[in-house]
Amino acid sequence: MFFAKTCLGAIGFSASLTLALALAQNQVPLVEDTPRRPNVVFILTDDQDVQLDSLRVTLWTGKTPHNTNVTDVSPPYGGYPKFVAQGFNENYFPIWLQRSGYNTYYTGKLFNAHTVKNYNSPYPGGFTGSDFLLDPHTYDYLNSTFQRNDEEPRSYEGQYSTDVMAEKAYGFLDDAVRHLGNKPFFLTVAPIGPHSNVIIKDASPGEDRSAQFGEPIPAERHRHLFEDVKVPRTENFNPDHVGVPDTPMLSSGANWLLGLPQQNQSNIDYNDHFYRQRLRSLQAVDELVDGLITRLEEYGILDNTYIVYSSDNGFHIGQHRLQPGKTCGYEEDINVPLIVRGPGVAPNYTTNIVTSHTDLAPTFLELLGIPLREDFDGKPIPVTKGEIEVAEQTRREHVNVEYWGRAISEGVHQVLSQEHNTYKAIRLSGPDYNLYYSVWCSNEHELYDMSVDRGQMHNLLNPSTSLSSETLIAGLPIAKVVSRLDALLFVLKSCKGLSCRQPWKQLHPAGEVNSLADALNSGFDDFYEMQNTRVRFEFCANGYLVDAEGPMWETQGPTVPYLRDGISWEEWV
Ligand SMILES: *[C@@H]1O[C@H](CO)[C@@H](O)[C@H](O)[C@H]1NC(C)=O
Ligand SMILES: *[C@@H]1O[C@H](CO)[C@@H](O)[C@H](O)[C@H]1NC(C)=O
Ligand SMILES: *[C@@H]1O[C@H](CO)[C@@H](O)[C@H](O)[C@H]1NC(C)=O
Ligand SMILES: *[C@@H]1O[C@H](CO)[C@@H](O)[C@H](O)[C@H]1NC(C)=O
Repeated sequence: MFFAKTCLGAIGFSASLTLALALAQNQVPLVEDTPRRPNVVFILTDDQDVQLDSLRVTLWTGKTPHNTNVTDVSPPYGGYPKFVAQGFNENYFPIWLQRSGYNTYYTGKLFNAHTVKNYNSPYPGGFTGSDFLLDPHTYDYLNSTFQRNDEEPRSYEGQYSTDVMAEKAYGFLDDAVRHLGNKPFFLTVAPIGPHSNVIIKDASPGEDRSAQFGEPIPAERHRHLFEDVKVPRTENFNPDHVGVPDTPMLSSGANWLLGLPQQNQSNIDYNDHFYRQRLRSLQAVDELVDGLITRLEEYGILDNTYIVYSSDNGFHIGQHRLQPGKTCGYEEDINVPLIVRGPGVAPNYTTNIVTSHTDLAPTFLELLGIPLREDFDGKPIPVTKGEIEVAEQTRREHVNVEYWGRAISEGVHQVLSQEHNTYKAIRLSGPDYNLYYSVWCSNEHELYDMSVDRGQMHNLLNPSTSLSSETLIAGLPIAKVVSRLDALLFVLKSCKGLSCRQPWKQLHPAGEVNSLADALNSGFDDFYEMQNTRVRFEFCANGYLVDAEGPMWETQGPTVPYLRDGISWEEWV
């Protein structure tokens, strides 16, 4: 997990789920007669949005944060020490890969709070070769600290982080190819771009360490690019008050967002600069991707290698009057790129099927022919054209988003970390509905109908905006839709394994409901309206504390085995 994700705190972030939309690719037919097990190059950037990221433990375990209980990026609720304390260092993705005969290599950021002090107690498990960025210099673009295999940490003062990492990545690729006769490989390259440049200062005893989140720093050769580019001026960019005339309040957002002041021109100018620095810092990442692909081609193994590109979370700059940052549940923060290329992958195909980082570990195992684990909360993401077409009809249409802890803003207008940024949400996007529903630890609720309100500007559940009673969602009263969404969120917030993969089945064990549209059948009105337990919090906590979480869904019925050998994903998706 990493430092910045959905709206966070002074080094803290939290883990939440990210939504990804699978994207395009290119396919080259396999020429070999004897298929070899494929390789993978996984490129994971930091804070890269689609609309304009935590999640790392989820990504490496296939489990939701409430099932890992690593819910933040720093102790006590998260970070590398919590990951180790929860027992995952002996039981997570690279370990499973090694047991299945893969060589595993990693360079870049693995976790937050993975530091020059704790890097060897213990070393991260599961890597054939590793060269990790370490705190407190993880996000220091011009003074990074890396730690290779079991060597001591080494400082790269004055060198550009992404370029240093590129050389390390190419070196691991060379190593991997040398051993290809025996074993296929899985190489992860996790550059920091376009994350903020973070300087962490040790504070005096008794004080928290302080972190300065400055705009990202590009490589010298890229600093003059994009001089005219600005943050897209979408409807939700630094909006005027909406719906509530003559008040400073927004009608988008809830909780602490409602009091955010509109940004002045110097603030907007700075945010545009921050945005350009993000784009510039991504140029070195772009060169790194090119360098990897060129080498795969030269080695003649491009056709038998999956290349997967994603980011840990998205980012907002100015939307809903927010200073640069993440840790919110809005679209800019949770919608991240997912680009896949490789054997059998549909060429040049873009899909809007709903996936999350919980699905990535299952996806990799599936692609590599390694049996899935029953306790996965996620499901493989389809990559072939045929699979995607089936999934477009049948795959779940929601992801759950969960966040605990603080929000922080970044840049020169960085403010103190914002408490009470704990919430649970559903992002649901299907043929019939396009919705975002959230419940905050303050018990405020949000609902945006994104089929008509893409920018999430009109919270249909904001008590101070007088809703016309005729406001409908796809022709139905809002209360009716909310009763279903709330029941779904109720299951998802404490689901485990199968109940995360098939939440509607928990509510309707006979299997007649597989989507929101099914659940909205008026035959179920009584069922949903009589469920008087609703998602609510007892108080705002910075971690997954059962006492704060309100009523919990009890999983009903026998646990059905997740996946038996020989069943294709179409049969169980
Ligand atoms: C999660 O971990 C925290 C400590 O980090 C602990 O206080 C809490 O009880 C745990 N939650 C659950 C549900 O086990
Ligand atoms: C760079 O990092 C090293 C520690 O790895 C530190 O000793 C040095 O002072 C830092 N240099 C600057 C310019 O901050
Ligand atoms: C603009 O807003 C920033 C951030 O709130 C503030 O620090 C600055 O003083 C403001 N500038 C002017 C000219 O009002
Ligand atoms: C990819 O698809 C887009 C839209 O479907 C099309 O315009 C474009 O030409 C395609 N590119 C290639 C290389 O096939």
